[in-house]
This record gives sequence, structure tokens and C-alpha cells, in this order.
Amino acid sequence: MKTTSVHGMWSSRLMFVLAATGSAVGLGNIWRFPYITSENGGGAFVLVYLGCIAVVGLPILFSEIVIGRRGRMSPINSLKELADDAGASRAWIGLGWLGVIAGFLVLSFYSVVAGWTLAYGFDYLQQLVVGAPPISDPGQTFENMLASPGKLIFWHAVFMVLTVGVVALGVEEGLERAVSVLMPTLFVLLLVLLGYGMSTGHFQEALGFLFSPDWSRVSGSMVVTAMGQAFFTLSLGMCAIMAYGAYLPSDVNVPRVGVAVAFSDTAVALVAGLAIFPIVLSFGLDPEGGGAGFIFTALPLAFNEMPFGIAYGTAFFLLLSVAAWTSSISLLEPPTAYFVEATNFSRKQIAISVATLTWLMGLLSVFGLNIWREFTLGGKDIMGAIEFLASNIMLPIGGLLTAVFAGWVLSNRITREELDAKMPAWAFNGWLWLTRVVTPIMIVIVLLGLIGII
Ligand code: PHE
Repeated sequence: MKTTSVHGMWSSRLMFVLAATGSAVGLGNIWRFPYITSENGGGAFVLVYLGCIAVVGLPILFSEIVIGRRGRMSPINSLKELADDAGASRAWIGLGWLGVIAGFLVLSFYSVVAGWTLAYGFDYLQQLVVGAPPISDPGQTFENMLASPGKLIFWHAVFMVLTVGVVALGVEEGLERAVSVLMPTLFVLLLVLLGYGMSTGHFQEALGFLFSPDWSRVSGSMVVTAMGQAFFTLSLGMCAIMAYGAYLPSDVNVPRVGVAVAFSDTAVALVAGLAIFPIVLSFGLDPEGGGAGFIFTALPLAFNEMPFGIAYGTAFFLLLSVAAWTSSISLLEPPTAYFVEATNFSRKQIAISVATLTWLMGLLSVFGLNIWREFTLGGKDIMGAIEFLASNIMLPIGGLLTAVFAGWVLSNRITREELDAKMPAWAFNGWLWLTRVVTPIMIVIVLLGLIGII
């Protein structure tokens, strides 16, 4: 059993929790959760999503950490070794490759959206520092930004450079230093925004929208979206947490850190929702008005009115960029770790090459917003189609394979050892049962629903 990884190790349990939470908490919580909750009508969607976190997300989160820590290498090589040890087929490395491809697709559009947040953060910073004019018509401002490929490409590039900078430095120097400063800042800033949301007088109404279910809204496509969001927000199904698990010291209690990560991620999404929907309601906007521009068109209205709104706006969009940054790092880490193992190139060269390719792929999403606007796939623009394919199809398939690998390929002895002797027998058996049976069946049902078989 290996106790260290060639890529470095997290220096403490807290570091892993911070890094994995940094990966989990991102645009998925603050941009995507509010906008798809809005599009899916609130309450019922939120409850289905919470159910998916508990029944599908948590067992897979444990599984990814266990596989990563046991293998101690990049996901592809960890899977290869563990499959060899178990006498299973080498085809399992396909799961690692699926993760690399899904990560590549997710990062390609993720970086574009993170570019929007940087652009807004910079705009507010200019308002704050040099008195630039406020955003008086947020809908128009957002439209204008999307219509300008040059601007989108510039911020997409800035964001990719920030991401690659951290990954190139490696585990201790890059990832740890970034997360240990950035994550706590993020939490503080979000609580400030929640405080404002509570003072708008629309907090009760927002609570109702987010938590009282209208079950008639449940449909196959809604459940697919809710499950996709559970995977996306917990960074599951593409081996990102597996890669981070490889750097986790052996004496750390996996269930405890897994629960801490899932809990914080869910809390951030709910707090973000509770901060944003009161604002949306207080401006008489349609809470179901949704769309990928939701927070960019709704929030500036509030920032224009509230005391110190410009400072809030600056903090909010910079906060969001930071959250996106700590997530994108984890999207780039699995392929980087693999090519470090498989080639003689340096970590820096590899990180830069993977990021450049991903950046190029991101241009498809950028142009789909303007010059190729007419081009749609299944009623979605290019970015929407990539987002759908990666989060709602590839991540659940990756999650399904991860659960099967952890539940059926790894021996009970290994999983028991990794999940810690401290875990009570009922909890371990509960995990095993979920991972082997319940979680895979649920994912298969949802995916079958997606292709219209059921
Ligand atoms: N979980 C991240 C978010 O919510 C996105 C992500 C997905 C990161 C998959 C890594 C892997 O923003």
C-alpha cells in the first residue's frame, strides 16, 4: 500500500478539505444552481437535487477518494493499477480517459463563464476605483458582452492563464497556497451577500420559492438536470476528486472529510440561492426567468440600489471568479498528473499545453454566443450543448463506472481499510449497499429516461 504520491501530498486534513471544497464550490453553486433552479421552477427541483446529493453524490464522493488514495497516481494510472491488482480488465482505464475528456469539455466552457465573472469584477472595480459609469441597463450590458467575441476571448484567456499558473506550480506550492487563502475569503463574502438578501423584505418569499415543492413540475428532464447538477457541483464523475484523493495522507478519515466537503458545497449553493432570489424578487423580476445570464442581469440591479452596492458588486464578482478558479484548477489537475506520469515533459509544459488546447476548445462556446448564434444543437447554443453533454451525460456515466469500480472491483478488504476502521459497521455497509446497488440503478434509470427508453 502506497503512502505517498509522486505529485506531492496535502500537508494536512484541513488542506484536503479546503482543496476539495474549493473544487466543489464554484460557478456550479453560484452561477449554475440559481439559474437552473430558476428554469426548473424552484422547490421540487431543489429537493430532487438534494436527494441526488445524498443518495448518488455522497457514495460516489467516498468512492472517488478511496480509489484515488489507494492508487496514489493520476486517475488513469490509479485505475490501471487497482484493476491489475484485483485481476480486473484494464479497460477500466477508460473511466480515467472519460474523466479527462469530460474535464476538458467542462473546463472549455467553464473558463468562458469564469471570464464573464472576471469581466464584471473588473468593471465594478473600475466603478469603485476610478468612478467608471454604473451598469444602468444590466440586460443590455450582458447582451453587449456576449456580442463581443474579442472581450469574451480576452477574459477567457486571462482566466485560463490564472488556472494554469496554479496547476503548473504543483500540489504544495500551487494548489495549497491558492486554496488556503482564497476559500475562507469566499465564505466571508458570501455571508455578506446573504445578509443583504435577508434585509430586502423578500426573504420569506424566496424561502418559499426554493423549498416549497410543486410536484407537478417533476419530469424526466428535470430529474436528469437535477442529477447532472449534483455531479457537477460536487465535481464528481470525471475523476477530479479521485486525483485530489491521491494526495490525501493515509491516516485521514475519508467519511468525515467526504461529508464535510458535500455539506459545505450544498450549504454554499443554498446560501447563494437564499442571497440571490430575494434580490430577484425585490426587483420584481421573474424568479423563473432563468437563463445562463441570470445572475449577471439580475444582481447588478441590486448593486445599483443597495448602499455600498459598487463595493458589494466588486466583492461578489471577484468572489465568484475566485470560486471558479479553485474549481478549474481541479479540472486541469487529472490530465496534467497523467501526462506528468506518462511523458518526460515537465509539469509546467504539460499544464500549459493542456490549458491551451482547452482554451481553443472554449472558442467554440465563445463564437456560439455571437457569430455562430444561429447554430443550435437540440435547441441549445454550442455552450449549452457542451454543458448538457458533459454534465448531464458524461458525468453520470463516469459516476456510474466509479461506483461499480469501488463497489465491485475493489475488494471489501481494501474499501474497508480505506474507509477507516473508525467507521461504524452499519455506516460502511450502508455505503457499500448504496455504491453497489442503489446508486448505479438510479443513475441507469435516469440515463435511460434521458434517451427516452422509459
Ligand atoms: N464543482 C465545480 C463547480 O461547482 C465544477 C467542477 C465540475 C469542478 C467537475 C471539477 C470537476 O463549479
